[in-house]
Amino acid sequence: MIPKRLVLKAALGLVVTACGATAHAADTGPIKIGLILPMTGQQASTGRQIDAAVKLWVAQNGNKIAGRTVEVILKDDGAVPDATKRIAQELIVNDKVAVIAGFGITPTALATAPLGTQSKTPLVVMAAATSSITEASPYIVRTSFTLPQATTPLADWAIKNKIKKVVTLVADYGPGFDAEKYFDSQFRLNGGQVLDKLRTPLRAPDFAPVLQKVLDAKPDALFVFLPSGQGATFMKQFAERGLDKSGIRLIATGDVTDDDQLNDMGDVTLGIINSHHYSAAHPSATNKKFVEAFQAANKGMRPNFMAVGGYDGMRVIYKALEASKGAGGDALLAAMKGQIFESPRGQVLIDAQTRDIVQDIYIRKVERVPSMGNGLYNVEFDVIKAVKDPGKQK
Ligand code: PHB
Repeated sequence: MIPKRLVLKAALGLVVTACGATAHAADTGPIKIGLILPMTGQQASTGRQIDAAVKLWVAQNGNKIAGRTVEVILKDDGAVPDATKRIAQELIVNDKVAVIAGFGITPTALATAPLGTQSKTPLVVMAAATSSITEASPYIVRTSFTLPQATTPLADWAIKNKIKKVVTLVADYGPGFDAEKYFDSQFRLNGGQVLDKLRTPLRAPDFAPVLQKVLDAKPDALFVFLPSGQGATFMKQFAERGLDKSGIRLIATGDVTDDDQLNDMGDVTLGIINSHHYSAAHPSATNKKFVEAFQAANKGMRPNFMAVGGYDGMRVIYKALEASKGAGGDALLAAMKGQIFESPRGQVLIDAQTRDIVQDIYIRKVERVPSMGNGLYNVEFDVIKAVKDPGKQK
């Protein structure tokens, strides 16, 4: 009879061997990147843009890292935070992804943050832009932008350009609160006056009542932040209510004059001054190559700032996976921190301390550009270099 002790030892050996075999299989199997985007619903343009950019990155850079195949697993959350969380859980537990990317709106990133922390899975935020997101988990890295970053330089521009009285209008959730707060404080710090602060719901907003309030208040300018996808509806109602002929200037973050919709919004947008980190008309060789390749791969669709957040997010993930030799967790996270590279938007840095993006913010004016098919574009005319998120400088 074989002593019990030996049987146990043999059994343990088997378990160890089995674990070893599993670990080995994971090292040679595909490297999985989870990509959670709103492919349906109100935020679907964000999903469409980022998905196209991710596919372009893979087409240009291949799907092999450290001898392993890279597999992108795309899932639609419809921009519903509970769905994002459930999908992220499945991607972590069942698919064993190395990283999760995407996150079309702030609530979806915040809902997933605790899962990143618990499982040590890096979360690359390609779209959402509320300042505090990167503080919700030490595993969050951002390649989009923040509203304080985009808004503060516009408040400075407004004061320098004889705008003294403003009404603000923002979407009623995280990034809107940031835009309102940072515009208001910077503008008032410089001697400006904020007559009223208006908010519209994230879902299915009706702008008519707030636009009437703006007409009644008679400010020098109306400052607006609305999430990508709402600009066209807003501009239509802006014109219908006669604000374009009221003498009240419109200034905005580039989310409103979004490249995804701008060309279809028409002449009512001509002359709108806005601030942002990316324009499809950014005059660099890197951007021209990016826009051409993106349009060639997507039936002429113009990339917007969401596409660039996705494209750069893939760059950050690929370079980090190369450095970690395909490993996820802390090794992958460490290799994302401190990356510096030339994006289609200009030079960018992933700040190693904050894990947030440091980038140039451009002041732009909507114009028709004869050399670009006479389309409507955000034409950059001033730049504030290497802007860190003001939301982190407490
Ligand atoms: C966000 O929800 O954080 C968000 C979405 C769209 C934008 C900007 C911010 O254009």
